[in-house]
Amino acid sequence: MEQAPGPEEIVTLPDGSCIRLRAVHPGDEAHLQDLVAHMTPADLRRRFFAPVRELGSALAHRLANPNPTHDVALAAMPLDGERFLGVGRLSGARGIAEFAVAVSSDAQGRGIGYLLMGRLIERARLLGLATVEGEVLRDNDRMLRLCRKLGFTTSGHPSDAAILRVTKRLSVVPQ
Ligand SMILES: CC(C)(COP(=O)(O)OP(=O)(O)OC[C@H]1O[C@@H](n2cnc3c(N)ncnc32)[C@H](O)[C@@H]1OP(=O)(O)O)[C@@H](O)C(=O)NCCC(=O)NCCS
Repeated sequence: MEQAPGPEEIVTLPDGSCIRLRAVHPGDEAHLQDLVAHMTPADLRRRFFAPVRELGSALAHRLANPNPTHDVALAAMPLDGERFLGVGRLSGARGIAEFAVAVSSDAQGRGIGYLLMGRLIERARLLGLATVEGEVLRDNDRMLRLCRKLGFTTSGHPSDAAILRVTKRLSVVPQ
């Protein structure tokens, strides 16, 4: 069933420019595929840990249909266009929220990744989740710096030396 688009928020980035922030919803498959088309092979490897070149329709469909009970997916868009500049997602099953984030290669360095991650942490806290976690390639310096700035700690992956696990424990908001 096609859901009505949720409310949009206008957010000012550190450079003074503005973007729109809204939830990803069914029908966004083409926007997600376009975001991937605007990412370099190196950035796609950092996001998917594999030599992905495009977003197939099955995965695009899954990513455009977050589970409303335990997933959060947010998209950053320009003020004057419909394309996705970045997407952050959180899968909150079993009390642990696993994040993933991707910013278009031509929109990086403006604070969009930091903004999306901050919003995901905020949402996880409101959902009563105790921990936000993610996996980051050991050579992904930009993402590791960003995570450390947001209070994540890093530890080794149990079975893959190329991957670090990043973890942030949250203080739960009383209901
Ligand atoms: C990693 C990635 C998500 C970062 O997003 P980005 O939009 O380029 O990063 P930002 O502009 O938000 O952050 C850039 C810098 O400004 C800092 N920053 C941005 N906004 C800030 C704010 N409001 N307050 C303080 N610091 C801020 C960031 O911490 C970072 O610091 P650095 O200069 O030391 O690196 C993005 O590069 C990307 O999508 N890469 C490819 C996919 C990927 O690696 N995904 C992560 C795998 S889970």
